[in-house]
Amino acid sequence: MAIRIGCMFTLQEIGGKPSSFFLDRGSDVQYFLSGRCALYACLLDCPTTMERKLAYVPAYTCETVLASYVKAGYALRFYDVDTEELKPCFKAEDLQDVSVLNLCGYYGFSRYDKAFLNECKRRNITILQDTTHSMFSSDGHYEGADYYAGSVRKWFGIASGGVAIKKQGSFSIQPLRADEEHLKGRYKAMEYRKLAIKTGKDSYNELASSVFWETEMRLRRMFDAFESDEKSITILNNLDPTQMIEKRRANYQTVLDSLHPSSQCQPIFQSLDENTCPSHFSFYSENRAKARQQLEQKGITSTVYWPLPPMLTNKEQYPHASYIYDHVVSVQIDQRYSREDMEYLGTILTGL
Ligand SMILES: Cc1ncc(COP(=O)(O)O)c(C=O)c1O
Repeated sequence: MAIRIGCMFTLQEIGGKPSSFFLDRGSDVQYFLSGRCALYACLLDCPTTMERKLAYVPAYTCETVLASYVKAGYALRFYDVDTEELKPCFKAEDLQDVSVLNLCGYYGFSRYDKAFLNECKRRNITILQDTTHSMFSSDGHYEGADYYAGSVRKWFGIASGGVAIKKQGSFSIQPLRADEEHLKGRYKAMEYRKLAIKTGKDSYNELASSVFWETEMRLRRMFDAFESDEKSITILNNLDPTQMIEKRRANYQTVLDSLHPSSQCQPIFQSLDENTCPSHFSFYSENRAKARQQLEQKGITSTVYWPLPPMLTNKEQYPHASYIYDHVVSVQIDQRYSREDMEYLGTILTGL
């Protein structure tokens, strides 16, 4: 294996040509320090005529997503998410008093029911799509959404990575200046990672990880509508994602082709449709702790997206999401990995 599977990115190089990949997606596009900052900015911008701000959000999501809603003053009403291809289980009767719907195409695969979204539109409910996972899929931006908010930080190395898009009209909010301490930590962690690759010394990986997590935990406490730094904006405005998309799709297919599923590795998405650019290879595992330990022993670091968010206090009411939280595992299949790496990954997953 040329590179360990499951590791931090180094800083993305600036592309050779200006690109309007993000800029063309709406009438106002603004870049933020991170995805949650972008999401929070969209929520501050949302029109509300209702007395009580109520958001209809997935029971399977990330704590940082829900934190943006809570900080913006929203009460949360949850919808369950099916274990089969992570399809939202929307219920029309739940829409009473809802002002915003949060939509997500998990891991790049968009499986939501568009008829329901039309019903939301009919009721003047704002549709805010979290595009963190789906932004590089050709169907990853739902055409009827009012806002898109996402994080590029999961896709390649970048200090800031929040993208907020208003489909029509301009944002009324004024972003805050980027937080310098956060940026320092982000650049430092990526520098350490580069040194680890250059020197082969694992001590640099440890430094990278420690700075990364310190910076991350601080962001959880102080996130706000912080704008991006200039360098990150330049990366995004010169980004041609074509090769990255092709490589991720090819890698996902290679893992599928090399894998014999079992109860320890049941892929969530068992085929790759032509629209999807996958963010990860995600699967269910009956005994997840054991599977993750075995992977680690073979040089593959897996991740659990996501731990149960503390805001979901009644998880028994969402049996599908509960199953997902208890069994989901993800591994990286991104542009850094070769076909051979992915065949190796498929073989190891088969042996779990
Ligand atoms: C679906 C989703 N949306 C938003 C975010 C927040 O992005 P960031 O970490 O860049 O703030 C995350 C982070 O994990 C996420 O998984």
